[in-house]
Amino acid sequence: MKKRIAIITPGGDAPGMNACIRAVVRSAIGYNYETLGIYRGYRCLIDGDFVPFYKRSVSGIIHNGGTILKSSRCKEIRTEEGMDKATKQLKKHRVDFLIIIGGDGSIKAGYKLSQQNVSVIAIPASIDNDVYGTDETIGFDTAIDTAVECIDKIRDTATSFDRIFVVEFMGREHGFLALSVGIASGAEFVIIPEIKYNIKKICNELIKDKLNQKTSEIIIFAEGSGDSKQFAKIIETKTKISTRVSSLGYIQRGGNPSARSRILASIFGNYAVNLIHQNIKNSVVIIKNNKVSHISLKKVFYNEKPFNKNSINLLTKLSN
Ligand code: F6P
Repeated sequence: MKKRIAIITPGGDAPGMNACIRAVVRSAIGYNYETLGIYRGYRCLIDGDFVPFYKRSVSGIIHNGGTILKSSRCKEIRTEEGMDKATKQLKKHRVDFLIIIGGDGSIKAGYKLSQQNVSVIAIPASIDNDVYGTDETIGFDTAIDTAVECIDKIRDTATSFDRIFVVEFMGREHGFLALSVGIASGAEFVIIPEIKYNIKKICNELIKDKLNQKTSEIIIFAEGSGDSKQFAKIIETKTKISTRVSSLGYIQRGGNPSARSRILASIFGNYAVNLIHQNIKNSVVIIKNNKVSHISLKKVFYNEKPFNKNSINLLTKLSN
């Protein structure tokens, strides 16, 4: 019997998801397997919106951001009833393997599905880069490039006005995106949930910088660290330096994937199908020290991605 693989892209979209869908479909065709696309994430897995995918279903999408499979936030998948409905739909459509292309939350829901006897392979794709076990997720590299371009523009106006800018970043409870962009854009400070900040110390440094003829300051503020507007207000009051807030928002999630994101997506998608060919299930495809491999869904479910303190030390050292 031909194997039947269903593909889903739940949660936040990330540039490169389409390249990954393409890689899965075309690699599956190489083994003569069937592929089905599930629309709008876990919502339509529960509702049973499955569409057969062919070679040409994934033509002309490698360069597009977002996901042709669309997405949604679905609370029901976190309930026992939702899990039950999803499992029944997969059985009804005779799905042998479910490939989940998504971030930490989506992959964790995948672990729950695997406990209901669904065979799952997960591919990390998220601008947050917060999936345990992998150095990089699909879309992370593109989001860095997008955000760096924005910071460079903010720097121009910050310098013109001798201002401080607090720039709010996405990243959920993590600061991986904020920190990488901070290093790449020469930001003066990065506020991330993983590290407690001392606002008094920051203000003192900002005042000292001003006395030392510094003409602009960029403070990258990860969304998981609290209220960026409140933070900026305190900074302005204490330093008496004109301060503005800019939220990058959903711009960070869109745009054509970088070449690096497309390559990673292609390698991950192909690797996932090779795992299925070997009947390996309930695994997450990862890249570690430039080597692609896989770890168990269980491991990803029970672990949080550790934070590398060296990066923040580097940023602090270079931005003074
Ligand atoms: O996980 C990706 C992400 O963009 C996070 O950085 C952000 O917190 C969240 O999704 C926003 O979610 P939504 O699309 O539901 O507003």
